[in-house]
Amino acid sequence: MRSEAKMNHSRIAVIPGDNIGPEVVAEGMRVLGHLQRLGYGHFSFEIFPWGARHFLETGRAAPENICEILKGFDAIYMGAHGDPERVPDRVGSQQLMHPIRKGFDLYANVRPVKWYKGTESPLKQTDPIDFVVVRENTEGEYAATGGRVHQGTPDEVAIQASVASRRGTERIMRYAFELARLRDGKKYVHCVTKSNALAYTMALWDEVFAQVAAEYPDIRTAKSHVDAMSMYVITRPASFDVVVATNLMGDIISDEAACVTGSIGLAASANIGPSRSVPSMFEPIHGSAPDIAGRGIANPIAAILAAALMLDWLGEVEMARKLDDAVQKVLAVGLVRTPDLHGRATTTAMTDAIIAELGERAFGE
Ligand code: NAI
Ligand code: MG
Repeated sequence: MRSEAKMNHSRIAVIPGDNIGPEVVAEGMRVLGHLQRLGYGHFSFEIFPWGARHFLETGRAAPENICEILKGFDAIYMGAHGDPERVPDRVGSQQLMHPIRKGFDLYANVRPVKWYKGTESPLKQTDPIDFVVVRENTEGEYAATGGRVHQGTPDEVAIQASVASRRGTERIMRYAFELARLRDGKKYVHCVTKSNALAYTMALWDEVFAQVAAEYPDIRTAKSHVDAMSMYVITRPASFDVVVATNLMGDIISDEAACVTGSIGLAASANIGPSRSVPSMFEPIHGSAPDIAGRGIANPIAAILAAALMLDWLGEVEMARKLDDAVQKVLAVGLVRTPDLHGRATTTAMTDAIIAELGERAFGE
């Protein structure tokens, strides 16, 4: 296993982004460097300085041919972009994030929600929380269909249309059901909808969910409107296994779920192109957190767990598990905690603790 891992060379495109993005990505790379020194994996990193700062310097958050530049890499490791005081937030989404997600058709945004021992949930409940939000990542409310007319006049109109295609809906449903089969979980897919109000897109969403569900008789199903679902994430988070949602709804539900498990600073995500013909992208679910940037206190764990998801996708399954275990142990011991976890540790101290937990010798020796 070890020599096999040694032979794999992974070319990783790193997009640190803005504010805490570079702070946490540097920590993820430090962990990967440590694993490599232990004899696990072989990584080469190429850094792309895209984001809000790049926009201020060049007039674009990223080059127009971004997918052309990134297509030869094995994976993309991203921090977070955005500097809302200086650059309109939509710029980074339109010129950096969405061109990668849509350009490479990374249609499954997989967001594990796990309550780690030693972290404090704001809820007074003790059942284990362990589910995955599968968020449709290429269409829905973020399809970028619409426009503005008569700008700046009293007659101004803005239209932002949601898009649900049968193909796009079917493949994300299938992804959710396959994941439920694969997981050692409750064999249960919960569909988030809003078909009472959104009578076109979400009606198709519901119909396709039912059709795909019929092909998976071994998987239990249920469905909630998103407003009720936002309650259930708080009232019974331990009941879920796989939750499938549209682009916007999955985005909101996963921030809420991260908070329920202790902090958004713990929540990682994978943007998966299942065909593997393009690089998939791995990142924390959080944004660039300008309110804490530059102070060395951001929690690096979301970025480190995103690196673990990347290792898993790259086939370094044992290494990914070891890294996840090391994070769990450090959290369970609880001596090192960043301020979001009610501690006083710095970003680097948190990473140091994880590296120390991984040890200085190769696994299994
Ligand atoms: P945010 O996720 O950056 O921050 C929300 C709250 O969580 C803040 O109080 C922040 O301090 C805290 N937080 C986030 N990450 C943390 C960490 N690792 N450790 C400790 N605390 C953490 O969301 P917000 O404030 O809405 O957005 C800030 C900027 O990030 C905006 O420009 C936004 O557009 C951008 N953004 C970028 C994303 C991406 O690159 N994928 C995703 C979401 C937002
Ligand atoms: Mg989000």
